[in-house]
Amino acid sequence: MDNLKKDFDRRKFIKNISLGIAGIGLSQSAFPKNIDDLVNLETSIVPNSNIRSEFMLQPGLSYLNTGSLGPSPTTVFNKIFETTKKLELNPVGNNWGPLGKEADMVREQIANYLNADKDEIILTRNTTEGINLIANGLKLKAGDEIITTTDEHYGGVVGWEFLERHHGVIVKKIDFPKEDIDTDQVLSLVKKQLSPKTKVCSFMDVSTVTGMRLPIEEIAAILSTRDILLVCDGAQSTGMVKVDVKKMNVDIFAGSGHKWMLGPKETGFLYLRKGIQDRIESVQLETGFKLYNHNTGTRNVANFIGLGEAIRFQDSLGGIKKIEQHNIALGKYLRAQLKNIKSFKLITPEEDQLLSGISSVIVKDGNVKELHTKLNENNIVVKKLGKIDVMRFSTHIFNTEEELNHLVKVLHSLVK
Ligand SMILES: Cc1ncc(COP(=O)(O)O)c(C=O)c1O
Repeated sequence: MDNLKKDFDRRKFIKNISLGIAGIGLSQSAFPKNIDDLVNLETSIVPNSNIRSEFMLQPGLSYLNTGSLGPSPTTVFNKIFETTKKLELNPVGNNWGPLGKEADMVREQIANYLNADKDEIILTRNTTEGINLIANGLKLKAGDEIITTTDEHYGGVVGWEFLERHHGVIVKKIDFPKEDIDTDQVLSLVKKQLSPKTKVCSFMDVSTVTGMRLPIEEIAAILSTRDILLVCDGAQSTGMVKVDVKKMNVDIFAGSGHKWMLGPKETGFLYLRKGIQDRIESVQLETGFKLYNHNTGTRNVANFIGLGEAIRFQDSLGGIKKIEQHNIALGKYLRAQLKNIKSFKLITPEEDQLLSGISSVIVKDGNVKELHTKLNENNIVVKKLGKIDVMRFSTHIFNTEEELNHLVKVLHSLVK
């Protein structure tokens, strides 16, 4: 009986595809060849910059899933390739010579990007590695409490859950409401969980589920009178919005190069504020923060030099603040249209301070998996979070208003 009902609901929800979207296709001209093609929105970054053509994205593909993995511009790809070629000319001479030095300098670029010092940055493979390093290094004891949320990505929470399973640490998870949430509510929910046993608060900067940019600076202010470490998972914010670790007043900030930074795959970084570094007991950190030392083992210098190139690419477009403006403007534009689709419940907050370049909806009475497949068949790549029926749309610098209009048209043809 249940299955029959489900099938009926699903059929009601997904309209007949052959009637619905026949003939709807996005022409190549919908993609920006030039910044001037970014129509009507206040998204202009720098004149005469070729945006979409800087990427190798498949022609006709609407790529709205940078939150999972970003495309790298050709300049980054070429940098990795050229560096690898140089490396092969004399592997030892170059790896522990000029290329090794150049790769280590990327710590300085990341530091400038985040408003940190070079001696506060280590280069990692990804966000998960960074947060795990902290979880392993903090030496928390049974009964110590960690506050986090139910929306964290595995990468931001598996390290804490490991401590819970193996060392008796208590992980408390805040379940942020998915509707009408604002800064005051976030702060009051955080305050409620604090206790004399709280040792760590670990939150995403931008939520991987709802796209909410958490009020980290305000959370830091609440924690400032207590001895609680503030750990921030920046996987979804770095490269999408301006991150200033000093302004946010976080102790730890972990990020990935291969999402919104548009850097090489398997690159990341970890910021550790100077004042807390001696609290992390880690084999890797014992010999310093350099990209390579005896405790890190050999690294892929080409990837990290490529990450430096990704930052240069963003700078060439006018810098991260301008990119943030673009991403948020596109997000707002998309959300205004997603709201008009009855089958969707928008779960991205509306308050300006909480906005980001991610827009998410709950697919109410339908089948998120099937909708995801249909969008893929239409060359539209988005993220589905199946467990909670969420569909997530990431809008970055290579996405346009016209592309979003096309997405909405296709959505209207597929759902009520
Ligand atoms: C908030 C958040 N944290 C961590 C991760 C994991 O990132 P990585 O695989 O680069 O470690 C993701 C990936 O989507 C994420 O959204």
